[in-house]
Amino acid sequence: MYVADNKRYDTMQYRRSGRSGIQLSAVSLGLWLNFGGVDNFENSRAMLRRAFDLGITHFDLANNYGPPYGSAEETFGQILKKDFLPYRDELIISTKAGWDMWPGPYGNMGSRKYMLASLDQSLKRIGLEYVDIFYHHRPDPDTPMEESLGALDTAVRSGRALYAGISAYNAEQTSKAVKILRDLGTPCLIHQPKYSMFVQDPERGLFDVLEKEGVGSIVFSPLAQGLLSDRYLHGIPSDSRAARNFFLKKKDIGEATLAKVRALNEIAKQRGQTLAEMAVAWVLRDPRVTSALVGASKVSQVDDNVAAMKNLKFSAEELRKIDGVLAGKKAA
Ligand SMILES: NC(=O)c1ccc[n+]([C@@H]2O[C@H](COP(=O)([O-])OP(=O)(O)OC[C@H]3O[C@@H](n4cnc5c(N)ncnc54)[C@H](OP(=O)(O)O)[C@@H]3O)[C@@H](O)[C@H]2O)c1
Repeated sequence: MYVADNKRYDTMQYRRSGRSGIQLSAVSLGLWLNFGGVDNFENSRAMLRRAFDLGITHFDLANNYGPPYGSAEETFGQILKKDFLPYRDELIISTKAGWDMWPGPYGNMGSRKYMLASLDQSLKRIGLEYVDIFYHHRPDPDTPMEESLGALDTAVRSGRALYAGISAYNAEQTSKAVKILRDLGTPCLIHQPKYSMFVQDPERGLFDVLEKEGVGSIVFSPLAQGLLSDRYLHGIPSDSRAARNFFLKKKDIGEATLAKVRALNEIAKQRGQTLAEMAVAWVLRDPRVTSALVGASKVSQVDDNVAAMKNLKFSAEELRKIDGVLAGKKAA
């Protein structure tokens, strides 16, 4: 029987999501890949146990995580039942709807029909009566925002979710969405944007909107899917995401990118960190970031990513060097 480490809250940092009552672990674990029906169940289970033992309280899902679609929720549901039910009230579990899930016009995008049916399916797969956060996974240009966000409001009012979130909405769409949700009486808890040293888009307006509106942010792919680590320094390992050439493509790992990764790796070493640790610390240097949402394929990666907590501070000189590398200048 799994018994959680009684020191699990000793070293992790907890950060408030905007101006809400919810604090999230500074590192959260996402189940997009490596937790599906095609993956090794005991490895997925070991990663989730280690994450919780290290103080990670938040696990992020979506309807179509797998593969196959839906299977990450099923895997998580089985592990929840075996290991985590006594700890349910120590966990923040999220899911989402917005991308392709089932065939036909009601299995994708942002209609009320799709989103609420999807949430019901997710709850069944996970084996829960409610999730903590239900997200609209992306804006739908062909559905009135009031309809998609109204579905989030219904999810919360009907008790199927405690909080509402949005993902992939740009700054302007976010301003509008936050207002609609506030008027509905279901404030937006959190936004989930992509953010890393390699993808800095939220700094161009989105973070400002979130700060002004008191909405938190949980940033996904802080390691740029593994590029911002030592994973690819010596070629493409056969068990890596890039080897599958699916979401991270082999062509994304060109010489120019590797030169930056090598230079960043040197800066990380000077800080006494792995590059993965530095990549997590780098997103958390911004107080507007509530949590770094990492993925993992091995327990050792969970350990490494949480070890970032040991050094979250950057000197102005270190940040200048990192900016220089990212701008394509040689490492100082
Ligand atoms: N809202 C959205 O639209 C959206 C989109 C994408 C993701 N997400 C969420 O964000 C989560 C994280 O995304 P992500 O998996 O792309 O995040 P990531 O942390 O940038 O990448 C995770 C991958 O990096 C490698 N890795 C992780 N830790 C490592 C370490 N310490 N050293 C070396 N390599 C390491 C592993 O790759 P290998 O598999 O090669 O070992 C792992 O699968 C997802 O699970 C999901 O919850 C949301």
